[in-house]
Amino acid sequence: MIRRAALGDLDQLVDLEARVFGDQAWSRQELRFELSAPSRTYLVWDDQGAILGYGGYWSGERDAELMTMGVLPEARSRGIAGSLLARLIAGADRKGLQRMDLKVRVDNPAAIDLYKKFGFSQTGLCKGYYQPEDVDAWVMTRPLSSIGPGPVGSVGSKPSEGQERIINHE
Ligand SMILES: CC(C)(COP(=O)(O)OP(=O)(O)OC[C@H]1O[C@@H](n2cnc3c(N)ncnc32)[C@H](O)[C@@H]1OP(=O)(O)O)[C@@H](O)C(=O)NCCC(=O)NCCS
Repeated sequence: MIRRAALGDLDQLVDLEARVFGDQAWSRQELRFELSAPSRTYLVWDDQGAILGYGGYWSGERDAELMTMGVLPEARSRGIAGSLLARLIAGADRKGLQRMDLKVRVDNPAAIDLYKKFGFSQTGLCKGYYQPEDVDAWVMTRPLSSIGPGPVGSVGSKPSEGQERIINHE
C-alpha cells in the first residue's frame, strides 16, 4: 500500500537510500529534515511493513519540485515508482499547484522514461549540473490542474540549488 512517510520510517529509508543511491545517498540527518519539513510531501510503498520504494516533492505557493524517487532493486519493474508518482502528482494537483518540475541526469534513461510516461517533458538542460562527474541534467516539467495524474493518454521557498534528490542522486 501507499501511505505518507513518517519519522518512524527513518531506519528503513536510510537503508533504502544506501541500497538505491550508494555514495550519493542522503544521510539520516538529511532524511530526517526531508520527512519533517512542512513544505515536503513524501510517500512510501509499504509491503506489510517493508518499505520497497519512496518518493516526494517540495511544494511552494504555485509550483512543486519532485525531490526524489527510489525503488529497491529487487522490487523494480512492478509499477511501484509509477504508482507513487501518480499519487504524488495527484496530491500536488489537489493542492492547486500549477506545475511540477524536476531535474534528472541525462544518462538515466529509466527515470527519464518514467517521467515522460507521466506527462513530464524536457524543458531545459543544465550543463555540467552533476559534479564532480560533470554530467548534464534535463529539466523536466509537467503542468498540473489540467491533466490527470496518470500516464499520458490515460488520464515556502524553493529548495536550494542541489538540494533535490534528483540532483544529488544521479
Ligand atoms: C527509476 C526507478 C525509480 C523506476 O522504478 P520502478 O518501480 O522500477 O518503475 P515502474 O515499474 O513503476 O516503471 C514505470 C515506468 O518507468 C519506466 N522505466 C522503469 N524502469 C525502466 C527501465 N529499466 N528502462 C526503461 N524504462 C524504465 C518505464 O516507462 C516504465 O513504464 P512501463 O513499465 O510501462 O515500461 C528505479 O529504477 C530506481 O529506483 N532507480 C534508481 C534511482 C533513480 O534513478 N531514481 C530516479 C531519479 S532520483
